[in-house]
Amino acid sequence: MDPIIATEDLKKIYRLGKVDTPALRGVTLQIQDGEFAAIVGPSGCGKSTLLYLLGGLASPTSGRIFVDGNEYSSMTDAERTRFRRHKVGFVFQRFNLLPTLTARGNIALAQAIHDHGYDPHRFQSVTEMLGIGAKLDHRPFALSGGEQQRVAIARAVVCEPKILLADEPTGNLDSGNSQLVLNMLRTLNRSLHQTILMITHNPEAAAISDRIIHMRDGLVIED
Ligand SMILES: Nc1ncnc2c1ncn2[C@@H]1O[C@H](COP(=O)(O)OP(=O)(O)OP(=O)(O)O)[C@@H](O)[C@H]1O
Ligand SMILES: [Mg+2]
Repeated sequence: MDPIIATEDLKKIYRLGKVDTPALRGVTLQIQDGEFAAIVGPSGCGKSTLLYLLGGLASPTSGRIFVDGNEYSSMTDAERTRFRRHKVGFVFQRFNLLPTLTARGNIALAQAIHDHGYDPHRFQSVTEMLGIGAKLDHRPFALSGGEQQRVAIARAVVCEPKILLADEPTGNLDSGNSQLVLNMLRTLNRSLHQTILMITHNPEAAAISDRIIHMRDGLVIED
């Protein structure tokens, strides 16, 4: 079986003024279709950077990325954007909700820009599952951190993407809500055969995944 995600010697150097920070120093990784994998490692080791590159949100300094049979560098920006909207759901470490839209607007927008369009049944089931049904008219500033996180997760999963990339999806949740989110991710993975790659510091999250990828200093050190 072909992997759904594959990288070859992926390197990323951030350049700020005259300072170079090597965030990824050669990551070669394969994720199989339907896998539920956790990425763990110390702060600053390159986890978020790796997820950004896999999501096509940033470009590597060198190396190659294949997602669902497509190589990112061979796509135009427009093709990559379209691909991402349709195949990849992304939960950001800092949520990145649109501040001028309500929770409802943030989630519905993801559906609106997808070919399937707005789907009220799916919208309702996801927001109820995440326990944010009563907060849909709130804008992000009027939501707690944990609520914003759940809105961000709803936005990422509402279109049932083939691949879900999640940067610490339980980072701001109490243990009850963490468990709820983890169970939901596990269900999506099992029932929709969704591939999930999740960065986490949460031992429970790592424990329910099929595979744990350990990173350190810009490298995968153990898998
Ligand atoms: N835009 C940027 N410009 C310059 N350096 C950056 C940038 N983004 C990240 N870095 C640096 O790249 C390295 C990897 O950062 P990254 O955000 O991938 O780490 P992380 O493993 O996700 O850490 P954390 O667990 O704290 O979220 C760090 O040294 C960070 O300071
Ligand atoms: Mg990070």
